[in-house]
Amino acid sequence: MKKKVTLLLVLAFFSFELTASAQQNLTKNGAPQSKGKPISTDLFGIFFEDISYAADGGLYGELIQNRSFEYSPSDKDSWNKGSNWHSLTSWEFTTKGYGYGTISVETKSPVSPNNPHYVVLNIEEAGREGVGLTNSGYDGIVVRAGEKYNFSVFVRQLSDKSIPLEVSLQNKNGTVYGKANFSTQTNDWKKYAATITAAQSDDSAKLVIVAKIKGKLAIDVVSLFPQNTFKNRDNGLRADIAQAIADLKPKFMRFPGGCLVHGDGLGNMYRWKNTIGPVEQRVEQRSIWNYHQSVGLGFFEYFQFCEDIGAKPVPIVAAAVSCQNSGGTWRIGGTGQRALPLSEMKAYIQDVLDLIEYANGPADSKWGAKRAAAGHPKPFNLEYLGVGNEDKITPEFKERFKLIYDAVKAKYPKITLVGTVGPGPSGEDYELGWKFANQLAVPVVDEHYYEKPEWFLNHYQRYDNYDRSKSKVYVGEYASQGNTLYNALAEAVYMTSLERNGDVVRMASYAPLLARQNYTSWNPNLIYFSGTKVFPTVNYYVQQLFSVNQGDIYYSSVVSFPGRKDLRDSALAASCVRDSKTGDIILKFVNAGPAATQARADLSGFGQVNPKASCIILTGTSLAEDTFANPLNVVPETSVFLVAKSFTCDVPPYSLRVIRVKTGRDD
Ligand code: AHR
Repeated sequence: MKKKVTLLLVLAFFSFELTASAQQNLTKNGAPQSKGKPISTDLFGIFFEDISYAADGGLYGELIQNRSFEYSPSDKDSWNKGSNWHSLTSWEFTTKGYGYGTISVETKSPVSPNNPHYVVLNIEEAGREGVGLTNSGYDGIVVRAGEKYNFSVFVRQLSDKSIPLEVSLQNKNGTVYGKANFSTQTNDWKKYAATITAAQSDDSAKLVIVAKIKGKLAIDVVSLFPQNTFKNRDNGLRADIAQAIADLKPKFMRFPGGCLVHGDGLGNMYRWKNTIGPVEQRVEQRSIWNYHQSVGLGFFEYFQFCEDIGAKPVPIVAAAVSCQNSGGTWRIGGTGQRALPLSEMKAYIQDVLDLIEYANGPADSKWGAKRAAAGHPKPFNLEYLGVGNEDKITPEFKERFKLIYDAVKAKYPKITLVGTVGPGPSGEDYELGWKFANQLAVPVVDEHYYEKPEWFLNHYQRYDNYDRSKSKVYVGEYASQGNTLYNALAEAVYMTSLERNGDVVRMASYAPLLARQNYTSWNPNLIYFSGTKVFPTVNYYVQQLFSVNQGDIYYSSVVSFPGRKDLRDSALAASCVRDSKTGDIILKFVNAGPAATQARADLSGFGQVNPKASCIILTGTSLAEDTFANPLNVVPETSVFLVAKSFTCDVPPYSLRVIRVKTGRDD
């Protein structure tokens, strides 16, 4: 991401006088009293949910909206009624140039029964420009001059003669930016593909496909991708959004949700097998977030993306119960949880086991072969699998969770299972969830909380007293309900406590990750985007600073705020970690309050240190935000910072400062 880089030579205020608390923490030879505590190497990652158009119309690179004509009235406003979505949403019947004919949506003999709707065009008179269909993408199709686009479509010729077709990218007035021609070859479904180069840039182009003579044909799965996807992959991801995610350097990625996983009723539960294989054979479905999932971004693409960005995959499967808020029952107390009949559990559990084989099995195993057929013979090295998402802890849930849990443990003992303990930081499901997790000795449980910034400041010690002999914690979803610098810094304060407790907190991910401008189902989010731009928030920079500056050893006695023993009522926090691969010592100082202060660091236990440290500071006014209008309002600034064995440094109001110190070999 763009950063304001100012190379300042910041002079630290050297001081060789140790505070009482720092003195107590040193041994005779000057090494930190504690050798440091190993902490999780998977601590900071991301949570991707297909919410707010994060997948279709977002990270997924497809430019055609409703490419398979599978949108339906139930996709949208399911609980408000009055939806106007249908098979031709985002499409227009195109009869310019005095052509005419009829259009119908049919289901009788589709490309795949999984994808039942297709369009039949009966061209009675092609006129001067042909008769066909126009797609307007997601608020227009974004094209760039000189860029190449991969077009494909399934067509079935329904009349005797071959039908010539023309596909073009046009502006809203019909100016053609690029086109390709082909003719139907068979009365069976056949995929046709072409490359179109755009002659001009346009943020709201259209794709027009027309038949040039009288005839009848069926059309389905009309697709257009930029060739320039992330890592140039087919069926790939939008490069700028994927890069913004990659720049977070997440240690893991949880997917595909969230509530999307357990679904709005049993029929809406996310089934990973529906999301792999050729896109025309995938089973599309309504999204719990009030739109549609093409599942073109499916489990293969998620695993591939994780590999591409060096993040461990953390897929989540439903615990065979639907969301307790199904049907909008959160309004009346979340009574909508439904459980799969026990008679279906054997098959459901097999699906879960097959997922592990799909990810890790040899290329000649049944499911490993499907991964290999998709172009990835090597395993994806799955280590974690989540079961359930903040479910209501009912007897039905418990029975099904245990069946899944036992089966996975028995067949794949090396997989680390992640359980779930409700939607909040406390309360009935939290208590019952933890009790149940302890009974089963679930290795990791997933806690969620969306709270005010003050909550994060006040719960800075939440994990200090967690029992280290019990389940480890995955803070799977958290956010402080805002995108101001103050919010981001409250999260930063809390994140130092996650580092401090990195022996019991295994993983943490801010949520949600992505949201398309004007299509937000949820606020705040970490990254906003439009059709053309990506807007990281201040919270994003906090996440990034922690993630790229993660360590694997935590030191409790290196940083302090002189004169302040107890930080409980303050908005101050600091941490010291070390990355044992590079040997670097990483210090973080956070001030989420209005008063400037100073912090002290004592590096005397680390042997030789390079006095020229790198320093990144994120600071501004408390309510500052990075907005669409002012996206670079608050961004990290980098400088060189001179350190000594013992030094103090300024901690300005509303700031996060990260100092990275290189150590010598004799350490
Ligand atoms: O992150 C948005 C939603 O918040 C998730 O889908 C759900 O798990 C939580 O309630």
